[in-house]
Amino acid sequence: MPEEAILKAKFSALERQKNIYLAGISGQRPAIPIHPDELERQAKEKMTQEAFAYVAGSAGLERTAFQNREGFGRWQIVPRMLRDVSQCDLSTELLGMKIPAPILTAPIGVLEMAHPKADLAVGRAAATLGIPMIFSNQASVPMEKVAEAMEDGLRWFQLYWSKSNDLVASFAHRAEACGCRAIVITLDTTMLGWRTRDLEMAYLPFLRGKGIAQYTSDPVFQRLLDEPDDASTPQPKRRLTWDTIVSLSELLRAYPGGWFGNLRSGRALKAVRKFINIYTNPSLNWNDLAFLRQQTKLPILLKGIVHADDARLALDHGIDGLIVSNHGGRQVDGAISAIEALPNVVAAVNGQIPVLMDSGIRSGADVFKALALGAKAVCVGRPYVYGLALNGEAGVREVLENLVADFELTMRLSGCCSISEISSEMVSR
Ligand code: GLV
Repeated sequence: MPEEAILKAKFSALERQKNIYLAGISGQRPAIPIHPDELERQAKEKMTQEAFAYVAGSAGLERTAFQNREGFGRWQIVPRMLRDVSQCDLSTELLGMKIPAPILTAPIGVLEMAHPKADLAVGRAAATLGIPMIFSNQASVPMEKVAEAMEDGLRWFQLYWSKSNDLVASFAHRAEACGCRAIVITLDTTMLGWRTRDLEMAYLPFLRGKGIAQYTSDPVFQRLLDEPDDASTPQPKRRLTWDTIVSLSELLRAYPGGWFGNLRSGRALKAVRKFINIYTNPSLNWNDLAFLRQQTKLPILLKGIVHADDARLALDHGIDGLIVSNHGGRQVDGAISAIEALPNVVAAVNGQIPVLMDSGIRSGADVFKALALGAKAVCVGRPYVYGLALNGEAGVREVLENLVADFELTMRLSGCCSISEISSEMVSR
């Protein structure tokens, strides 16, 4: 990571805490709720029903989403005393990149549903703090534009492996060209999970042309659009209702270029159809990974690993890092919680490559526990989207700063001055 970005990040939990209390003397409360549940509650009030359902919702009965958070409760920190915690260093190193705190923003798609500035706001907030952002494959803004907004801010790219390997290669090349420093392949979404809330509303943002900016800005995808549609794919007949017209209009607005131009060319509709046909690839398997390796020099991480055998297979396939994750419970309801899966994956990897984790991180204590159980860093997801919904870039910054401050205090109060001091002896079950 560029050194300037690390220097930019000057976290101080004590300063943050002091400033909040001092502002309270003049009757000022924090603009963004501190407690994650209140943050979610207020974001729900601000967001449309569809947007909130898409972000907050998970698969099935949402038991895994619940367990992701509950799972942290099964571990307790055992603080140590009299260790001089007057100085503290939160920085760490990941795949040769120095980062100011062991926290990244998880890739989340369709951020335009939370705020019109979407990925640009998150990118700027993350870059200001020196926190790496993982660009989503389902972003609302093309990666090049977000990279430009982030200047030297550290960024990675999350990839959904589509049915077209040409498109996979194109995404990888673009990510490398716009300064992404790693590629994260999300493995758990070879098809969408049974998302109860979205299904209840019969709402999938991609069908409205939202969250497909990486595709519509891609030369290979544009080329694919010019190829004839697979004749075996039936085009569903829909009733023409007022809602159909509203949805079509929304789609024409979302697609790059003018509304009338898109209506005339039919390209927006074609793009959505093509996207739906190719964006997931249920046939993806271990042998496919070599293809991406040939396309890029960037480190490749696998996201969605929760089984020790898969972690060992990843090592066999020369993978550079893992993210233990169940996609925030959005894919397999009933799947093991991420924090529960972490220790086995860490043991299997045996220090050969870094292991990160996401799914359920809401507090500084969660970050601490994940690190104690062997994660090198964590990715935070939904909370920053709620911050985005409430107050754009500033909201994202606040959420991230609060999480880092909470983590710093947890770490120091537990007797640790540096990340390397957070070990498995610091937690008990
Ligand atoms: C996919 O990107 C999702 O989790 O909605």
